[in-house]
Amino acid sequence: MTNKTNSPLPVEVKAGRIYSWCQCGLSEDMPLCDNTHSGRSNIKSFKFMAEETTTLYLCACAATQTPPYCDGGQQCKTV
Ligand code: FES
Repeated sequence: MTNKTNSPLPVEVKAGRIYSWCQCGLSEDMPLCDNTHSGRSNIKSFKFMAEETTTLYLCACAATQTPPYCDGGQQCKTV
């Protein structure tokens, strides 16, 4: 079962590493892709490289227009 939420979730990232943000909303490891989309959705993950080692707050509702970051859309409770 997905742990999709309407609030951004923190993810610790390391500089230079590639991360896969879930944009299908089915992941059980939101906001990151856990490959649940495979065979269940034509939507694939959005890959991005962390520019620095830090904690990022990533969209966990999969509806943002500015992936992987929250865009403060109507369904978001927190930006
Ligand atoms: S599980 Fe959602 S994009 Fe992979």
